Amino acid sequence: MRILAIETSCDETAVAVLEASKNKIKVLSNIVSSQVKLHAKFGGVVPNLAAREHVKNIEHVFTRALKEAGLLKSDFNSEIDLIAVTRGPGLGPALLAGISFAKVLAWKYSKPLIGVNHLEGHIYSNFLNIEHGTWNKIFPALNLIVSGGHTELVLMEDHGKYKIIGETVDDAVGEAFDKVARLLGLGYPGGPLISKLAEKGDSGIYLLPSPMIKSKDYNFSYSGLKTAVLYLIRDLGGKEKLTMKQKKDIAASFQKAATDVLIRKTIKAAQEFKVKSIMLSGGVSANSLLRLNLNRATDELGIKYSQPELKYTGDNAAMIGMAGYFSAKGRSVSVGNYDWEPVEMDANLGFK
Ligand code: KG4
Ligand code: ZN
Repeated sequence: MRILAIETSCDETAVAVLEASKNKIKVLSNIVSSQVKLHAKFGGVVPNLAAREHVKNIEHVFTRALKEAGLLKSDFNSEIDLIAVTRGPGLGPALLAGISFAKVLAWKYSKPLIGVNHLEGHIYSNFLNIEHGTWNKIFPALNLIVSGGHTELVLMEDHGKYKIIGETVDDAVGEAFDKVARLLGLGYPGGPLISKLAEKGDSGIYLLPSPMIKSKDYNFSYSGLKTAVLYLIRDLGGKEKLTMKQKKDIAASFQKAATDVLIRKTIKAAQEFKVKSIMLSGGVSANSLLRLNLNRATDELGIKYSQPELKYTGDNAAMIGMAGYFSAKGRSVSVGNYDWEPVEMDANLGFK
């Protein structure tokens, strides 16, 4: 079975082709065309601009994905069995660009179309290129999803069965990285720039709060930490006056405070809910300090741990194809069951 997957929820136009065989789901191609440079001058993603770029680029990204998978457009009908597309959460106009493209393909070739939850996609980035056999005995699993729009702790009882046990009450952790980067006068997106700067910084120089680290629930809050950085920079004379050493130390302190609370609450939840595995995902899962420390903490607990390969941490379509495959299996969507109309965009889609 071959799956064509499409992702346009934010500022990446992405198309992938996956092949599901008996033991493994293999990624045949995974093309991501990033608009990051375009949005950088605005300091964040502009929804209508993102949608326009998706419409402009998607045909080309689609053709490249087929080509890299060894397929021609004329092979589409005989070689692709299922189309998966992100239907939310994300930026409405951007999502619509991908959904419309997917619906046209489904209609033209009479293929089943399945709408995928973007966050479920991030979770499934952990399953890419892994032998099916190794997925045994991972449930219940605890997912820490950390991205520019979300900070969620999600208990997963089985494929397709989710329960949110904690989430951010204000900013998402990726958003906090982006905002602190702006305060330090760095570019967009801030996450990779902060973590690079933090490598040479000392996290012990400035003490920043890890918000809600002691609260009894599993929720997170990042606006207080961002404000603490704002005041620290002000007290040091403003961002123009900061030395490179000060910037590195602030980045390191912020990164430590932001990730410590994620790890502490994830481990606490894993113990309370007696999970068999912990999975990390989302754009912020590229952060090396978070990867290292969460890996260590799960080792100490003796719990299975999984994190996506770096190429699957940011938004991509391979993860959407993987989630789509399991979703279709659960709903017994079969080949030839042409069914595209019920796939609706939902910018605020959550877990059922
Ligand atoms: O999942 P993603 O690509 O898009 C959303 O669905 O939001 O996540 C993007 C977020 C941005 O906020 C970006 O700054 C952050 O992930 N990010 C990082 C790192 N790489 C990307 N944050 C911290 N450390 C990183 N290395
Ligand atoms: Zn994402």
